[in-house]
Amino acid sequence: ADGDPVAGAKVFKKCMACHTATEPKNKVGPTLMGVVGRPVASVDGYSYSKAMAAFGEGKTWTEEELAAYLPKPKELVPGTKMAFAGLKKPDEIDNVIAYLKDPSAA
Ligand code: HEM
Repeated sequence: ADGDPVAGAKVFKKCMACHTATEPKNKVGPTLMGVVGRPVASVDGYSYSKAMAAFGEGKTWTEEELAAYLPKPKELVPGTKMAFAGLKKPDEIDNVIAYLKDPSAA
């Protein structure tokens, strides 16, 4: 979708306790640098849940897949260890995806 990366950087503050999008560094969650277009559960050295590893087989984080995951992570991936209720507003989701695609645009 046609999100706004500047607004998305603000939304991403909700994610920053557990993720960075600008460094190849894992925190509580895996780095989200380059996540759009990246195979699911593929960051070396990050210990994914069994649920995410199984969900991820053959899948990529496309914009569509992210838009399905972010409103209710535990609904798309039951058993995920991502302890985040989800983003409720469609514009927040569009904007955070735009940010993740190109953090330098923010
Ligand atoms: C995994 C996005 C908030 C903890 C993931 C993944 C994405 C993502 C795309 C899958 C990554 C991959 O396959 O490599 C986001 C976004 C957030 C957010 C956009 C904010 C809107 C959070 C928060 C926490 C968290 C607040 C911690 C409280 C995790 C963990 C995983 C994960 C632990 C690994 C899940 C597993 O292995 O089951 N996140 N996240 N995330 N995230 Fe988040």
